[in-house]
Amino acid sequence: MALMPFDDRDGMIWWNGQLIPWREAKLHVLSHGLHYASAVFEGERAYGGHVFKLREHSERLIESGRILGFEIPYGAEEIDRACEEVLAANHMTEAYLRPLAWRGTEQLSVSAQQTRIHLMVACWAWPNLFGADRMKGVRLGMSSWKRPHPETSPTRSKAAGNYMIGTMSKHEAEAAGFNDALMLDWRGQVSEATGANIFFAIDGELHTPTPDCFLDGITRRTVIALAHKRQIKVVERAIFPEEMKRATEAFLTGTAAELTPVRQIGELHFTPGPITETLLNDYEALVRMSPAEVEAKLAA
Ligand SMILES: Cc1ncc(COP(=O)(O)O)c(C=O)c1O
Repeated sequence: MALMPFDDRDGMIWWNGQLIPWREAKLHVLSHGLHYASAVFEGERAYGGHVFKLREHSERLIESGRILGFEIPYGAEEIDRACEEVLAANHMTEAYLRPLAWRGTEQLSVSAQQTRIHLMVACWAWPNLFGADRMKGVRLGMSSWKRPHPETSPTRSKAAGNYMIGTMSKHEAEAAGFNDALMLDWRGQVSEATGANIFFAIDGELHTPTPDCFLDGITRRTVIALAHKRQIKVVERAIFPEEMKRATEAFLTGTAAELTPVRQIGELHFTPGPITETLLNDYEALVRMSPAEVEAKLAA
């Protein structure tokens, strides 16, 4: 498949308050964010012209920066508007959006207190992470990398540096013929995939790891709320890998992955079933509602 490089496309990118032509959105190689991973980002999806849970994403971006010790020079409302502007400028209603904030070029050492904080937002067409076949379920290999202790890495921040082991895990899994990797944490408990959270159906209930050392995804929280609406009990707890064989169904949640059934984890096989199907349909319906309808639907 011919790749379409991300620096050579038509369109507009929002950068520090302005929309600029896509190919002109260039960064100097001596940017702090590139050398020291002082960068945080978001992944969002627009459906029918609305960015799903836009305000939550903008607020998480700001908080991700604060965790890394920097203040993004735009408020949540301005970031929301930037996302909407970039969608409109690219004439898109269905899109993946990528806001990114990073430290600039003023200093290039571990200490970077004087660096300017930049913000950009781009959007592009990105159908589901796992493609059209995802209804059959994806296959996950077990990663040899472990999600670190929250005092070892800023695990609550959607920080670029946290993705280093994600890319290595995903490459390892792909080389072994899997679609993605399931990562354990430093204690040996199940944590998440490389860019999505995980759920298991066990005895008619949903079980999912407590997000104490990985991202508590916006999709994860949404799916928990949808499960409650369906009177499906959700248990957030420590899950050890040997317990996965008790599960009859498993699925991933994330902005890019949406709700994706899982049919294999290592040696274990699962059959996407009624709980997965119900929540997948509920999620697909929800993302197509207006923000006010989403709020009303999820209200207790
Ligand atoms: C590592 C990781 N975990 C979980 C998620 C799911 O988060 P969300 O549902 O907010 O997209 C993502 C995607 O953003 C991710 O990259």
